[in-house]
Amino acid sequence: MSSQPYSIKGFDHCELYVGNAKQTAHYYQSTMGFRPIAYRGLETGSRDRVSYVLNQDHINLVITSPLEKNTDIGVHIDCHGDGIKDVAFTVDDSEMAWKTSIDRGAISVLKPTLISDENGETRISAIETFGDTIHTFVERDQYEGPFLPGFQAYNFGRENETTGLVHIDHVVGNQPDGEMQPVCDYYEKIFGWHRFWTVDDKDISTEYSALRSVVMANDNEIIKIPINEPADGLKKSQIQEFIDYYGTAGVQHLALSTRDIISTVEIMHTNGVDFLPTPPSYYENLTKRVGPIDEDIETLARLGILVDVDENGYMLQIFTKPIQDRPTLFFEIIQRKGSNSFGKGNFRSLFKSIEQEQKRRGNL
Ligand code: FE2
Repeated sequence: MSSQPYSIKGFDHCELYVGNAKQTAHYYQSTMGFRPIAYRGLETGSRDRVSYVLNQDHINLVITSPLEKNTDIGVHIDCHGDGIKDVAFTVDDSEMAWKTSIDRGAISVLKPTLISDENGETRISAIETFGDTIHTFVERDQYEGPFLPGFQAYNFGRENETTGLVHIDHVVGNQPDGEMQPVCDYYEKIFGWHRFWTVDDKDISTEYSALRSVVMANDNEIIKIPINEPADGLKKSQIQEFIDYYGTAGVQHLALSTRDIISTVEIMHTNGVDFLPTPPSYYENLTKRVGPIDEDIETLARLGILVDVDENGYMLQIFTKPIQDRPTLFFEIIQRKGSNSFGKGNFRSLFKSIEQEQKRRGNL
């Protein structure tokens, strides 16, 4: 199943269900440099939910809260805390994407639906994936408005500095133990995707924590979704900690790309984003391990930015701490300089840093 009867153009947006959309939107604006571009709520005739659309270059985040009791959104927040409900794809044919998926065994969340307003029309449909997460197929070539029909242009009335984030590099889904391969099989069967990269617990276990991961990618490899599961270690895997607090499988992190990671991380750090620390010893033999790089090592060490290399080049990456009280969703900032890797060389030092945090939370 390599040739698909429809094509995926990219990640359209990710929608988060949160307890307080207004304050969450403010956080993304003031710390990560997103700009509010669209809104729906009581003022636009949306009686049951409010959503803020935040944009930075090709990245769109939709932040949604319920406006009344006993809603699906409220139930989602009660089970998972704040988290990502929808990883939406832009497609050339939403009906075909939905129909193909359903024919291959996916469960429908939304049948193909035409929605329109004065700015044009879009076709959307959606299917279930792991946990309570969904994939919406957005067909938007006939739409000129700020986001989707029903949303109005919006800003908070103040400008803010961009942090230079460009697009969604990958979206990671954590699964309970034993569920990784079935979920990968699902992406293979429903979407015709392939295994782009894999890593097992022998590669990346530390003294305590271990995981297995398979990166699933679509035909043109624009979409990459690493699927993780916990592996046995001496103590609790960080993936198991996520599952315990999220309640089910779910999105663990969004990796956002930048063309200048040093500038992006400097600004985010100044704005109050907490990043996982990297021990100074990591940088002692860095050039020996990764070869010559353009960036100043002392600057990377000061900011805690990690470097990994493969046969095509290198990449720089750093991870935030969880961005809500539950140890669930976090962000990765990544700059690729040729490398398509997922930072295998960094897992060991990264896990040690995560384990320190787990220990402070009493979860190791
Ligand atoms: Fe990642």
